[in-house]
Amino acid sequence: MGDAVMTGQPLLQVNGVETYYGNIRALAGIDVAVNKGEIVSLIGANGAGKSTLMMTICGSPQARKGSVVFEGREITRMPTHEIARLRIAQSPEGRRIFPRMTVMENLQMGAGLDNLKYFAEDVEKIFTLFPRLKERHAQRGGTLSGGEQQMLSIGRALMARPKLLLLDEPSLGLAPLIVKGIFEAIRKLNELEGLTVFLVEQNAFAALRLSHRAYVMVNGKVTMSGSGKELLANPEVRAAYLEGGRH
Ligand SMILES: Nc1ncnc2c1ncn2[C@@H]1O[C@H](COP(=O)(O)OP(=O)(O)O)[C@@H](O)[C@H]1O
Ligand SMILES: [Mg+2]
Repeated sequence: MGDAVMTGQPLLQVNGVETYYGNIRALAGIDVAVNKGEIVSLIGANGAGKSTLMMTICGSPQARKGSVVFEGREITRMPTHEIARLRIAQSPEGRRIFPRMTVMENLQMGAGLDNLKYFAEDVEKIFTLFPRLKERHAQRGGTLSGGEQQMLSIGRALMARPKLLLLDEPSLGLAPLIVKGIFEAIRKLNELEGLTVFLVEQNAFAALRLSHRAYVMVNGKVTMSGSGKELLANPEVRAAYLEGGRH
């Protein structure tokens, strides 16, 4: 892990993307690529534009300039539900599970109608990955711990059988040991199933250790990129994002 893997085909390409909220430009010309089989992370401080990029990939808000290309096909102006059907699944910032539904019902929501025939098989896989969810399968989402809600949010996204999994700050607000478990699960999904992952994180240390490649975002622009290892060793990255972090 940590070494650049450049052999995969490009799965996602973000080219010169600019996204606005009203007159405010949140993304100022972003170029990012994710190849098949990679874990790529995007690190940056609060307010840098990380979530905006993730949401722009999903079509809401849409890019005002530039293009988003998935499997060679432009999706920049495609409606969000059509983008989801291309098997781009997202675990959004703040998890957004359905609090009044049980764990099983949340997983059902993720599967959608297309994947119901795989339901039992896919649920079993998710329960193997996150045994805590199996123990809690009949419990309502809102009564789970933060870590369990994050597992459920990832599990729900996996039920869509994604080709590309987008994760927005899975470590947010969780204790280090829980974060470790969640990142280990992401690593397993990538290593054992070849799942392609685009990960947004403020926890630069954990993200860079896990990722083949990474981008650093500052004020709506990518300022640096490289392998996870390179960025972990980079003095500027260390000073800005890793000082005081866990080593
Ligand atoms: N719905 C919104 N309306 C207006 N401005 C927004 C909205 N969402 C985010 N922003 C602004 O866009 C910028 C990027 O935000 P965001 O993508 O959430 O950053 P990050 O995820 O890196 O913390 C910030 O300046 C933020 O205040
Ligand atoms: Mg965010």
